[in-house]
Amino acid sequence: MSATAIARQTPPMVDESMITQVWKVTTAKNEIFDQARARYGDTFGLNLARGKWFYFADPEDVKTIFTASPEALHAGKGNEILATALGEHSVLLLDEGEHMRQRKLLLPSFHGEKLAAQTGAMERISEEVVGRIPAGATFQVREMSQDIALEVILEVVLGTASSGEEHDRLGTATRELLEWISKGYRLMLSSVFGPRSRPIKAMYKPALAPLDRGLYDLISERRKADDLEERSDILSMLLLARDEDGEPMTDIEIRDELVTLIVAGHETTATALAWALERVTRIPDGSERLHEEAVAGEGEYSRWVSQEALRLRPVLDFVLRRVMEPIEVGGYEFEPGDVLAPSIYLVHRRGDIYPDPLTFNPDRWDGVKPGTYTWFPFGGGVRRCIGMQFAMAEMEFVMRAVARAGVLLPVGPEEATVSRFITSSPKRGGQVRFAF
Ligand code: HEM
Repeated sequence: MSATAIARQTPPMVDESMITQVWKVTTAKNEIFDQARARYGDTFGLNLARGKWFYFADPEDVKTIFTASPEALHAGKGNEILATALGEHSVLLLDEGEHMRQRKLLLPSFHGEKLAAQTGAMERISEEVVGRIPAGATFQVREMSQDIALEVILEVVLGTASSGEEHDRLGTATRELLEWISKGYRLMLSSVFGPRSRPIKAMYKPALAPLDRGLYDLISERRKADDLEERSDILSMLLLARDEDGEPMTDIEIRDELVTLIVAGHETTATALAWALERVTRIPDGSERLHEEAVAGEGEYSRWVSQEALRLRPVLDFVLRRVMEPIEVGGYEFEPGDVLAPSIYLVHRRGDIYPDPLTFNPDRWDGVKPGTYTWFPFGGGVRRCIGMQFAMAEMEFVMRAVARAGVLLPVGPEEATVSRFITSSPKRGGQVRFAF
């Protein structure tokens, strides 16, 4: 066949009814991906609501997609369903120039030395929350990590004091909103009626109002603070940020980005931690090594555990790009309206990259740096997760705080994967207990 003929081919489509496909994808029934890859190869399509979705399991294709121009592939459209809660200025929802503007305003707050200033609070909060676990009790890592992630948001992102009226008011409003939006049926309703429709806006209003009020009060107070330059919280840094024209962010922009950071960072990090501890307690010596490292206060094992958990149990199974201009990937031609989905799940399970791929083995990371297109639990290209280092740091601090308190044991049988909000989560939230 000539090269042109190959370029015009479209990938094979999975041969199942649309309803079955939607059900399997939205309920994290990942066998659909394993079976499709075994049958059709590294690239295949699903007929899902709103068009054809193509999945990619070859790192070369993932690279093509992540390095394509932001005009050819949009990510913001794929996140539209979150618009009611996040707001129209959210970096997650925008594309092209508008996206880059918000991203550039946010990125400096997450750079190395800023992060270093925030890790003290992460460490202290982790110790405090772990200290409240009753001796001998079975506990759920996801719940504990959510408590930690919330306190980290209040202190490190919003810069509130670690206790007091403001802390409690914002904490309650944030917790209630996160709980409210985590219900899958609400997302389903948004998808049916549209996230910007009147009934959906009316449904969200009471849930959003307390946090919005709290955030706008906080923004206006903080604008008046005379120590902004010395503060290390992200809100203060956003107030100081300037775009390329020297313009500051408006209150609405700051509100939308704060809610975006809260929503994007809370459930994801807690889920990653739940998987990390659920998995590591089930391998020989895993808990003991984690405990020894935590007591010694140095070592690489906890980072390897995080990397391995994010490989074998990624929080999100794929990322999405909507085709805006015709594009060729791996010899196939895609048209505007198609959705391209680099499959984190499938690439992370390739035997040619990860020998014995289904085994949870943190030691595989000894002396190995994760590859940009072979390990991408945080996505890639100009859309790569802004909170990646923040999340990895939080995972390490929480894991060490828990492991310092004792050697962990698994509880019950291995946990199955269930869909929670948009994440693939352990069914019982990662249940563990201390051996002593
Ligand atoms: C283990 C925890 C986390 C995981 C697995 C995760 C994963 C992801 C993924 C897969 C994306 C989409 C990337 C793409 O489309 O290529 C993303 C985007 C994003 N994440 Fe995270 N994330 C985590 C934690 C966080 C945290 C802690 C924050 C902030 C505090 C955060 C903020 C964001 C933002 C703002 C974006 C949008 C970036 C953009 O569109 O330019 N995430 N994340």
